[in-house]
Amino acid sequence: MSATTYPDYSPGLQGVIGGLTSVSKITVEESRLEYRGYNVHDLASKGSFEETAYLLIKGKLPTQSELDEFNAALDAERAIPSQVIDALRACAPGTHQMDMLKVGYSVLSGFDPDYNQEDPTDHEANVRKAIRITAKAATIATAAYRIANGKDPIAPKAGLKTAANFLYMLHGEEQDDYTVLVMDAALTLYAEHTYNASTFACRVCVATLSDLYSGIVTGIGTLKGPLHGGANEEAMAMLMEIGSPENAEAWLRDALATKKKIMGFGHREYKVGDGRAIYLTEVAKEIGRRKGNTNWGDIADIMEKIMREEKNIYPNVDFPAAYAFYLLGIPIELYTPIFVIARVTGWSAHAIEQLDDNRLIRPSCIYTGELGLEYSAIETRG
Ligand code: CMC
Repeated sequence: MSATTYPDYSPGLQGVIGGLTSVSKITVEESRLEYRGYNVHDLASKGSFEETAYLLIKGKLPTQSELDEFNAALDAERAIPSQVIDALRACAPGTHQMDMLKVGYSVLSGFDPDYNQEDPTDHEANVRKAIRITAKAATIATAAYRIANGKDPIAPKAGLKTAANFLYMLHGEEQDDYTVLVMDAALTLYAEHTYNASTFACRVCVATLSDLYSGIVTGIGTLKGPLHGGANEEAMAMLMEIGSPENAEAWLRDALATKKKIMGFGHREYKVGDGRAIYLTEVAKEIGRRKGNTNWGDIADIMEKIMREEKNIYPNVDFPAAYAFYLLGIPIELYTPIFVIARVTGWSAHAIEQLDDNRLIRPSCIYTGELGLEYSAIETRG
């Protein structure tokens, strides 16, 4: 089914304008990503995830007192009801962490004080929900991980921000400042990314006048796939299979010869490099130097060079994120849930924007099957 056969059809909706947004903008030629006009490099290197969450959800950068109030609201909302923990415990052994997150948010929705909001487009109620959804993401993700690994969940610690609390609830003890700083930057970089698949799916969901939690669950299900959020876990699995810089070139050339997709490379929008990856690569290399382990960074250098020369394809954010998280001692099955902890802010911002000026999203399609067939009785069918 090509665009040549159907000139009005773009496979994968590539290049199709899906809507208007003031949440974020990619400038492809400069590999630049801006959240509401602010370069993500500045937000990641000088700001904080909470400032970014405020910017995305509320539409502007906070003043100090607004940020203090926002942090206090997040702090007050981080705990999750015991029923959510019971539901996570009820999941079958081996349930994917992303599926456990869907369970968590599905159960959580009915506990939201605005659950019965009469008007699904009520902006203020949706902002309140977005703050609760953001506050609880790391709590659900770490509870799910610990339960899946036979451990009890750890309650959030008052006063710790999202990145520090995530690491605390994961390990049971606070982590050093640099680890927190890197995690905060990764969350900031993962927070939002225009009309990607999960954000679009989230907007489609809420545009039916469903609700914000359903939009988040839709987003999680869509992000799970290896062509989207799941790529960071697959990228680490690939790096581990390669093992050492000496194996990298042969492994990669063989993979390319057999038309394998190299996880953590390529992007539908960016064609000369993903700006988020450029910054996170610097961070990931620095972690390697600090930890005395440059193995993954060295493999990455070789792969990046060959991919650029052979395919003109650059790493996306998931490639450096994979070995940065690994070097920080984060379990691989949490890499995509970390994406969720950040991206709930972008999904919420888009859902609110959609509902502020809503129209049902319902594209057309081209039918390629048969028409006018005659119905026959079941006994007569061959
Ligand atoms: N490895 C090898 N070849 C690739 C890759 C890759 N990672 N990405 C693209 N190509 C090739 C592809 O084989 C095709 O070549 P040809 O025209 O010879 O068949 C050409 O580039 C176009 O690829 P495409 O898959 O049609 O491009 P797309 O815009 O549909 O795909 C993508 C974008 C991200 C799905 C794809 O690059 C990919 O599968 N990458 C690996 C998965 C990945 O890292 N995903 C994370 C995306 S960024 C994080 C996020 O926001 O989710």
